[in-house]
Amino acid sequence: MNVGIIGSGGREHAICFMLNKSKKVSKIYCFPGNAGTSLIAQNVILDPDNFSELEKYCVENDIKMLVVGPEKPLVNGIVNHFKGKSIRVFGPDKISSKLEGSKIFTKKICQKKDIPTSKFKICKSLSETVEYLKDSEFPMVIKADGLASGKGVYICKNFNEAKIASEEIFNGKFGSAEQILVEEFLDGEEMSYFVVTDGKNFKFFGSAQDHKRVGEGDTGKNTGGMGCYSPSRLLNDHLESKIKTKIIEPTLNAINEYGGDYKGFLYVGLMIKDGEPFLIEFNVRMGDPECQTILPTLNTDLMEILISCCDGTLNQLKINFSKSKSICVVLCSKGYPEKFEKKIKIKDLEELKPLENQYIFHAGTLKTKNGIVSNGGRVLNFVSTSDDFLKCRVEAINMIKKLNWKNGYFRGDIGYKVIKI
Ligand code: AMP
Ligand code: GLY
Repeated sequence: MNVGIIGSGGREHAICFMLNKSKKVSKIYCFPGNAGTSLIAQNVILDPDNFSELEKYCVENDIKMLVVGPEKPLVNGIVNHFKGKSIRVFGPDKISSKLEGSKIFTKKICQKKDIPTSKFKICKSLSETVEYLKDSEFPMVIKADGLASGKGVYICKNFNEAKIASEEIFNGKFGSAEQILVEEFLDGEEMSYFVVTDGKNFKFFGSAQDHKRVGEGDTGKNTGGMGCYSPSRLLNDHLESKIKTKIIEPTLNAINEYGGDYKGFLYVGLMIKDGEPFLIEFNVRMGDPECQTILPTLNTDLMEILISCCDGTLNQLKINFSKSKSICVVLCSKGYPEKFEKKIKIKDLEELKPLENQYIFHAGTLKTKNGIVSNGGRVLNFVSTSDDFLKCRVEAINMIKKLNWKNGYFRGDIGYKVIKI
């Protein structure tokens, strides 16, 4: 079967790599992909938010399945567009995607289904927010309701910071805002927990801990993710059972009650406090760089998983992961997450040959007639799997050192919570 992957990051390269191993897959197209995907798939320049154009291309090229990497096309209703047509789309429909597209929608589900999450208030104006904040204890968290490319969350240490954040949101920094979310700050340790679902059943799809801050020891600005380790050190059977029964099952039940059809990955962003899981947020897709970290440990054919989700037969499939540990270190452009240059040549990348347990996934890269150049802030993902986290990290960093890209930098401490040296 011909398959199309929507997206251009490391997550999509990892998905492309796994699908390329499947006997069920003939040809892969990436919309638009990156230099890495171009080595194993056909990159197609086309606006993936223009669903009619995408459909036309799929029909012409006999693409029978689309896998959606990022949230935007899902929130915009790509699944609904293709419903009833001969092209399967792996991803949740528009109603289900509100779990990521509207933080207030999710909080209302939490309230209705008694799902553990931080206490919150929905405010409908700046004056209402300011009044509420006057009696609040800090830190507090202020959130824009809709998609904000990871920038709509403000952790505020005092009233002033919270007021400025609320003003920015109501003034339209993330699009027109009629209401905002004010949340209690949760203290604890974060964990990303993933499942895959066919709308009726769901199955475990890995756990991980992202490192979002730019600096070692989790300091400095937030980024799209500087690296990741998997599995999370926090996960155990007891905690997992609580995550499933208190958070995932009631959420998927609520989505069914709303008439949604959720076929896809569900990313459960959690704060773990005294062994109890609290929902921070849902994403309706795999995480990035969690996906790159987890997928190399998957033993089951990814294409079989996607098909069984689309066909509603996930309960008949056993999903196997190896017991390996995995670490991903992200190589970024100097200056990221602030100002950085693009189109800097990455010499010798094609000569770098990872071993069997090592992977190089491209993110912000572009193939030009003069070779591969950088095309974003997060450029390459170096992943290593083994029975030991330290070994994983050393191997990932050794690949980066071998490449010796002068415009790059990375965090050398990925996995520091599980590596004591
Ligand atoms: P994002 O993934 O960009 O939405 O970032 C959200 C991040 O903000 C999470 O990963 C947490 O680190 C933090 N965060 C969000 N809500 C809370 C909360 N209620 N308490 C503490 N930290 C939070
Ligand atoms: N790793 C965080 C995210 O994908 O949103």
